[in-house]
Amino acid sequence: MSRRDVGIGLVGYGTMGKAHSYAYAAAPLIRPLPWRPRLRVVAGRNHDAVERAARDFGAERFTTDWREVVEAPDVEIVDICTPPGAHAEVIEAAAEAGKAILCEKPLAADWDDACRAAAAVRRAPVKNAIGFNYRRLPALSLMKELIDSGRIGAIRLWRGSWLSDEFADPEIPFDWRFARREGASTIADLGAHLLDLAGWMVGELDAVSAQSQTFTPARADAAGERHDVDIDEASSALLRFTSGALGVFEVGKTCVRRPCDFTLEVNGERGTLRFDYARINELWFGDGDDAPELYGMRRIRAEHPLHPETRGWWAIGQGIGYGASFVNQIADLLERWPDGRWAPDFAVGLEVQAACEAIERAAAERRWVTLEEIRRGPAVGTAGSPR
Ligand SMILES: NC(=O)c1ccc[n+]([C@@H]2O[C@H](COP(=O)([O-])OP(=O)(O)OC[C@H]3O[C@@H](n4cnc5c(N)ncnc54)[C@H](O)[C@@H]3O)[C@@H](O)[C@H]2O)c1
Repeated sequence: MSRRDVGIGLVGYGTMGKAHSYAYAAAPLIRPLPWRPRLRVVAGRNHDAVERAARDFGAERFTTDWREVVEAPDVEIVDICTPPGAHAEVIEAAAEAGKAILCEKPLAADWDDACRAAAAVRRAPVKNAIGFNYRRLPALSLMKELIDSGRIGAIRLWRGSWLSDEFADPEIPFDWRFARREGASTIADLGAHLLDLAGWMVGELDAVSAQSQTFTPARADAAGERHDVDIDEASSALLRFTSGALGVFEVGKTCVRRPCDFTLEVNGERGTLRFDYARINELWFGDGDDAPELYGMRRIRAEHPLHPETRGWWAIGQGIGYGASFVNQIADLLERWPDGRWAPDFAVGLEVQAACEAIERAAAERRWVTLEEIRRGPAVGTAGSPR
């Protein structure tokens, strides 16, 4: 198959810049794609660091001005890997320049900016996708397939938890992750993935109640200057879905010796499905139709060629990891370039942001908050922005 080039411009070269660059390099090796991604340019603010990153990532050039990425004639897809508070401005400029956009989650640091971002791609209109890469793990994609095919019946309960020790030590220096305006809440940082998976598998959220806590209210930055921390370090919420299903949500960055302990469980009328990120290629299935002597949960090895998101990967049992979720994401998008529909898109990102905003508001105001209140309510400071 002859492959044509599609030009990529990357904004931000940190952890996600590396993950996405890895995916551009690996995706054509894993799947026979009709398009070959070409990393044209990487943007960052620090000259030497971005020069180094561009070299390491195999990019053709670098710039310290992200606007050059948006305006470059050889860039067709702008890929945004900056902190959440810096997403909306780049999205607006890229949409106006007619570029397709892939943006890391969460769509923005807050509801106002998320509305701006979603409005910009609708107005242009341009192709858009949000980086909810966990959908592309075989085990989670299989979980969705089994739910959709009715294997566990109508869903009654959803449970999602994400525990990390990222902020457990009060001596960790202050940076953008502790400033809500730049890094978003922990609800939106870790929780956006959980809430995306909840919406994808269970359906629309109706209302939430919640609580949040910040255990270390001020931290010193690398230069020793102290700053207030205005994000939640841990939050939990009760969720009510429109279908009548109930949910429990928990995120925490202060959980000692819990590195990225993300678990998801769905209980349906006739079965249970459970995922534990520490066992990334496994899905647990309790089938209510099993004979009583088989009572229990079976461990599915979610790497079989018949399972979703396994195309092109290693033989069953070899393992498909975190990096594969990014490779699958890029491969899925390039298979739908330029005319297919990209999913999940910013409309999904906006719905997830509404859920994050509802949880934040419920915790701050100590009351139940409906999603409708968020969707229809005024976004502070953005009068007239389309919802
Ligand atoms: N999908 C996932 O699994 C996953 C994992 C981690 C982070 N993320 C998301 O990816 C995004 C980036 O996170 P990261 O961990 O790569 O961060 P990072 O700190 O490792 O990298 C951020 C990059 O953005 C640049 N940057 C910082 N502030 C900027 C600004 N104001 N304007 C322009 N550039 C700026 C930095 O120089 C750096 O290149 C965030 O939205 C985060 O939530 C997603």
